[in-house]
Amino acid sequence: MNKERVLSGMQASGKLHLGNLVGALKNWVSLQDKYDCFYFVADWHALTTGYADPSFIKDSTADLLVNFIAAGLDPDKATIFIQSMVPQHAELHLLLSMISPLGWLERVPSYKEKQEQLKEKDLSTYGFLGYPVLQTADIIIYRAKHVPVGVDQMPHLEISREIARRFNYLYSTDVFPEPEGLLTQFPKVVGLDGRKMSKSYDNAIYLSDPPDVVDRKIRTMMTDPARKRRGDRGDPELSPVFQLHKIFSTKEEIEFVAHGCRTAEIGCIDCKKILIKNVFEYLEPIWKKRDELVNRPEILFEIAEKGAEKARHEAEETMKLVRKNMGLI
Ligand code: TRP
Repeated sequence: MNKERVLSGMQASGKLHLGNLVGALKNWVSLQDKYDCFYFVADWHALTTGYADPSFIKDSTADLLVNFIAAGLDPDKATIFIQSMVPQHAELHLLLSMISPLGWLERVPSYKEKQEQLKEKDLSTYGFLGYPVLQTADIIIYRAKHVPVGVDQMPHLEISREIARRFNYLYSTDVFPEPEGLLTQFPKVVGLDGRKMSKSYDNAIYLSDPPDVVDRKIRTMMTDPARKRRGDRGDPELSPVFQLHKIFSTKEEIEFVAHGCRTAEIGCIDCKKILIKNVFEYLEPIWKKRDELVNRPEILFEIAEKGAEKARHEAEETMKLVRKNMGLI
């Protein structure tokens, strides 16, 4: 077992949507053969912004776990767990907080941005400022080398590298390798209104949406606003439906709908029907597995418990070194 270690997590802050699936989860699945992968649900991170009403966390954690497995993560290949089941993450977070300069944390772009975006929440808390420190603990406690994340997470990863380096420097050790981002060239998935698919824009197709809901969502999706009537010619590039075709349809279908849109030879519903067929084909195996799992939470719990056991073991090995390096018993 000399595979390099990969670690990634998803915050339990809502239901998983098609954008998360295409942009992240499918990539996790593709890494599980080549690497020693650790994947987890970050439920503590959900508290950093959701502490005042945490009732969503349990459902979101369950939704993520179901989808991890339904999308093809294999508990025999990857270590799958829930963050709060491995208390060593919290211990390392505490110890790293001792060496993390405030200035570094205040400079992380998402710190100010989120506070601006979520004005209704009081995010001038210690926990929210420490978000990247907890994330650092998540990563380096497994001494992971690669962290598959999207570009938006790169500033967090940069902090993780800096904190790891600072620890090694302060205690003259090489306990922690500096984790590297594993950026993947996945297409950005647009939502029903053409903006990036996101739960906060209310424009997402969720993996938990039943087929008739997915069908309706795509049927009522925005298209090129210039095509008001069936006979109007359109520009496919201005239609979010076409952006999704680029991800889910064959080359021939993409050419067919692009041509049909420009010449008005096909209507928007014809174009959408092809997309619906392809999205259904893509989601059907996932729906099938979801159906098998959704009413059997005990299976999911078993998977997470088994994963957590292995994770705790690995994390504890690192913590022994960390405690020693920091002069503790
Ligand atoms: N911040 C990530 C998100 O928003 C979740 C996360 C927590 C994470 N800890 C991590 C991602 C460690 C990668 C590595 O979904």
